[in-house]
Amino acid sequence: MPTFQTVRGTRDLLPNDARRLRRTINKAAETAEIYGYKEVITPILECYDLFDAKSGEEIRARMFLFEDLGGRQIVLRPEFTASIARLVTASLSKAPKPLRIFSVGTVYRYDEPQQGRYREFWQSNFELMGSNKPEADAEIILLTNRLLKKIGLREYTFKLGHVGILRGIMSQNNISEQTQNLILQKMDKKEYNLALRLITELKCRSVFRRLFRLSDSISGKNPVDIVKRIKRVVRNYDKASIAAQNLLDILNLVTKSGCKIGIVDPVFARGLEYYTGMIFEVYIPELEIALGGGGRYDKLIEVFGGEPTPAVGVAHGLDRITLARQKQALNSQLTLVRRKHKKRTLVIPANQESVARALKISELLRKARIRTEFEAMGRKLDKALKKASRRNVDFVVIVDKLKLPVGKVVLQNLQQGSTEILTIRGFVKKLKI
Ligand code: HAM
Repeated sequence: MPTFQTVRGTRDLLPNDARRLRRTINKAAETAEIYGYKEVITPILECYDLFDAKSGEEIRARMFLFEDLGGRQIVLRPEFTASIARLVTASLSKAPKPLRIFSVGTVYRYDEPQQGRYREFWQSNFELMGSNKPEADAEIILLTNRLLKKIGLREYTFKLGHVGILRGIMSQNNISEQTQNLILQKMDKKEYNLALRLITELKCRSVFRRLFRLSDSISGKNPVDIVKRIKRVVRNYDKASIAAQNLLDILNLVTKSGCKIGIVDPVFARGLEYYTGMIFEVYIPELEIALGGGGRYDKLIEVFGGEPTPAVGVAHGLDRITLARQKQALNSQLTLVRRKHKKRTLVIPANQESVARALKISELLRKARIRTEFEAMGRKLDKALKKASRRNVDFVVIVDKLKLPVGKVVLQNLQQGSTEILTIRGFVKKLKI
């Protein structure tokens, strides 16, 4: 018989990995809750056209695309933003603004698998729609900061940029939107010479050269100073100047709210085509890949047939954030501390006659929020006890209908090696102290 394997770039998560990822997912959901983002659930299957419109070549070329039995072009969603813009246009167009929308789930991209890069991965996605104010951009960065803090990451760096500066220069030089997208794609891949080659207008080239040079010298510099220098470079371009001021406003708001921005890069671009304003990504020193990224996209809902609606959002790579936590070696220490407070209890029926009563007692313990496993293999008592001590169980509750009165159990504390007879209520009390 052949042994079956998971599809390349997808993974089975065994209990420890699943627990770690689930913890990250829960932290994202808690963040949504405290910032007032309401969850929506959208399908994993979407129409190809939804992403064809505005996703950008990077994503378009890497979608899992197939024809269904009805001849429709279907994709596995490569991200959430387009789905949320579709949903808002179709069903929430009249809802009071701003809309704060949260989603979490798997997305699919045909990326080259490596550490932290998969073909099926998890994102938590936050979209804030209806506000064009810098405080909306700031909120998206701040909630990302809050999530990473909640996760327990010690060191991470926000990298900030503004597509409006780059597009502002290009549109004032009459570069078409299509060519702008091509140029930004090259810049996203750091292929700056190829980007310059696509710019035929000399004046525009020289501004870009100055921005590339500025980008080379940003390391260790104060981000506010960098934005001030960007403003000087683009001072002859109206839209770019407004965009640079907007970047400065966002930077000031975020910094004053206690979130540090490590880098402002004047030629930072992202793979997705719908961005119109501030963009950002977040990194840790241990990994070269981003833990999350987002930005402002003020035209997407209009493209989908909705009312013009400014919007800004972020997606967090939850697999990478989980990996980042392990890399920063917090996992083991924190798990130890948590385990101390979350004792493991195993309920063992001493004989066949006691199974039903033992099951009932397990349910009572769980109702009292005690983490309880049940000896479900039908092992004899001595074997089950040996197994329990090998598996680092903290307490064993032995239920014996034949020898003990109703409501009483034998409690063994495997860590201390003590044994006593107790009522269930007594045991619950003891554990909760
Ligand atoms: P994105 O930068 O394409 O943005 O993806 C966000 C995050 O998903 C990345 O920063 C990374 O952590 C994670 N990610 C991307 N590709 C992979 C992969 N192959 N394996 C594991 N993790 C990955 C978006 O998706 C936009 N929709 C974000 C957004 C929301 N912009 C506005 N609103």
